[in-house]
Amino acid sequence: MTETLLLTPTEENLALAARALREGQLVGMPTETVYGLGANALDEDAVRAIFAAKGRPADNPLIVHVPDIASAEPLCCIDERSRRVMTHFCPGPLTVLLPKKPIIPQVVNAGLPSVAIRIPAHPIARRLLELSGVPVAAPSANTSGKPSPTTARHVYDDLAGKLTCIIDGGECQVGLESTVLDLTREVPTVLRPGGITPDMLLEVLDEVAVADSVLRPLQKGEKALSPGMLYKHYAPKGMLSLVSGSAEAVAGKIRRLYGEAAQLGKTVQVLAFQEHLNAYKGLNTKCIGSLAAPETVAHSLFATLRQADAEGIDVLYSEVLPAEGVGLAVMNRLSRAAGFRTIEADEE
Ligand code: TXA
Ligand code: MG
Repeated sequence: MTETLLLTPTEENLALAARALREGQLVGMPTETVYGLGANALDEDAVRAIFAAKGRPADNPLIVHVPDIASAEPLCCIDERSRRVMTHFCPGPLTVLLPKKPIIPQVVNAGLPSVAIRIPAHPIARRLLELSGVPVAAPSANTSGKPSPTTARHVYDDLAGKLTCIIDGGECQVGLESTVLDLTREVPTVLRPGGITPDMLLEVLDEVAVADSVLRPLQKGEKALSPGMLYKHYAPKGMLSLVSGSAEAVAGKIRRLYGEAAQLGKTVQVLAFQEHLNAYKGLNTKCIGSLAAPETVAHSLFATLRQADAEGIDVLYSEVLPAEGVGLAVMNRLSRAAGFRTIEADEE
């Protein structure tokens, strides 16, 4: 058990965190997507400590963070197509899978032939990476299975005592984890949708596929392209169900289900879009952003799920949005948080 320091992002504190990384310790760092739990990717013991702190299965590989393409060169093979993608989107909320070089310890990437590389855009993450001078393996800084952390406080709530320090960079701007793009395949394939959408990727690629497990559970016997997709994810403690259909039918259905659960003595909450809040007057309702701007939903989703836990909510009903653009990433996380429980409101 270590005492975990919550640090403001001064140059002095960043130097201290950088030293901790070089010495094999764990550091919580803000990125523009979510907070990461970082360790020196070349230090096997430090990387093992990440898995232990999160309670993460060893077969779920980590993303390696570097400040620029030049720092990625010794770690992975970057062909012309990959360089084009990276030059266009990095730094930013994109992770690319590339053939790994031997310097990456197997423990980082669960023995796979590829390694995940990300160049974050967040100035604090970038400064920390520069000061540390080592590639930093970092999964989201949550306990495995819980919603990813979008504030330093979320990291502290999950992992205090298990890491040396957390750099407080305020709220993460994107709010959902990076897009994971597999560039080792003939057709580049999105394994996890995020802030960089398939349409954006098509600006520099001729073809982009989206793994079809993005919006449904894996079938029995099906192999996950990205091991992270295997696990129950992002789930609040309460029982979350998604309700889809026309806005009016959804509101009617949710009001009815809410009443039934409340009658059983449950604490209930509705997750609704700003445009529809009027339809839930009198119910315990949380605004999850604007239907017209899915990035606002991405920004607040994980914090909302964590807040529901803090408030002791037993049952949650959420509206859904079209799985397009950033909405694809939102629906990927929301579906998993709900264990793929979806209720069709129009079917009555
Ligand atoms: O935005 C993000 O990506 C955040 C910040 C901290 O950078 N990190 C993050 O890491 O979300 P994590 O570990 O929570 O998610 C990494 C995902 C997992 O689904 C993992 O299975 C997949 O990337 N992944 C990593 N390396 C892989 C590989 N070599 N092959 C296939 N999937 C891989
Ligand atoms: Mg994660």
